[in-house]
Amino acid sequence: MSILGLTTPLPTYPPHFNLLSLIRPNILSLQPYRCARDDFDQGILLDANENAIGHSIEESDPLITLLPKNLNRYPSPTHDDIKTRIASLRNLPGPEYVFLGVGSDEVIDLVMRVVCAPGRDKVMVTPPTYGMYSVTAQVNDVEVVKVPLDVEGGRFSLEVDKVNSTLSSDPSIKLLFLCSPGNPTGTLIPLKDIIAILENPTWNGLVVVDEAYIDFAGVTEEVSAASLVDKYANLLVSQTLSKGFGLAGIRLGLALASPPLIQILMNIKAPYSVSTPTAHLAFTALSPSSLAQFNQNIASLNANRSYLLQNLPSIPGVGAILGGNHANFLVVQILGKEGGKVDNERANEVYLRLARREGVVVRFRGKEVGCEGCLRVTVGTREECEVVLRRLREVLAE
Ligand SMILES: Cc1ncc(COP(=O)(O)O)c(C=O)c1O
Repeated sequence: MSILGLTTPLPTYPPHFNLLSLIRPNILSLQPYRCARDDFDQGILLDANENAIGHSIEESDPLITLLPKNLNRYPSPTHDDIKTRIASLRNLPGPEYVFLGVGSDEVIDLVMRVVCAPGRDKVMVTPPTYGMYSVTAQVNDVEVVKVPLDVEGGRFSLEVDKVNSTLSSDPSIKLLFLCSPGNPTGTLIPLKDIIAILENPTWNGLVVVDEAYIDFAGVTEEVSAASLVDKYANLLVSQTLSKGFGLAGIRLGLALASPPLIQILMNIKAPYSVSTPTAHLAFTALSPSSLAQFNQNIASLNANRSYLLQNLPSIPGVGAILGGNHANFLVVQILGKEGGKVDNERANEVYLRLARREGVVVRFRGKEVGCEGCLRVTVGTREECEVVLRRLREVLAE
């Protein structure tokens, strides 16, 4: 068995990892969809049943005048220009290490479908964590094994030995989802912990490190598992333009992995999943001048995060701020009126009052492991931070 379309040899590190035996046989043997445009994309294009006249959107629409003129044509199936910019941003050798998806939620779904047979295979998650891993598993009829983080004192650290022994004891676990910085923990996973799992010689599975929030976590090259992608064939790092880049509306997520895994994702994806407007905006968002603005925006949001961190503790009724605070949100404990103990019911009431009466929507996370009595507050603009501090103080004084 080989991987269709792969032009480079299979990687050999780590030595215990066998990619071909991990991928579901039906995926390996798949003949990907091909269109004439894969071979010829110039001339009179009468191959794809597009509308030769063009779209019919009225010209007064403010957006349509700004968009590329070729919306009647299917977009590129590969978008190599965007991939090249991403590879350069993340210090990877080239576009063959990058996959583009409709948000990183699509990447999560695709990678699960590549390695997990419905009704038979399992994935592992480390709660508290992002809810879509389990939702996607349920949609795909894949069982979820949970090894919670060490939540003592809001630490939220990975129990590496437990993770490794559980992985080794159950060969039907094919995927491990780690989230760094975690949602809702805001905590970075040290690269040495990720390496300890990648090097586990008794588990032939894939580690997915979800780095949706990595741009808020400091010097990306030092904290991102993207730096391990060129070495480890059993690693996939997912990232997104939805958070640090402020482009949640265009739906562009990405996977960084070794070329064989990227090729497999390319083979199974819908041919034109990333739209022309999305591709156009993503390409520009990765230009040098946009990246300068991106860095400024990250610095501003991180300054606002520090402002919240400084001011939240002085509000009576606010308890500890949990986790590592490496993302664009904070996890804040709410205390009971008497005795100062963490109070889940009050946290939920505060959440509802803030939303219904004060027009400030945060997220109640009190049902998550280790997050009793917690609200997750996204870092907003400076004005929004001032409002949330004021309204929280008022609601907690009632
Ligand atoms: C940890 C994590 N991963 C992935 C996503 C999904 O991001 P995208 O907008 O790229 O689908 C989110 C969204 O909130 C998230 O919190």
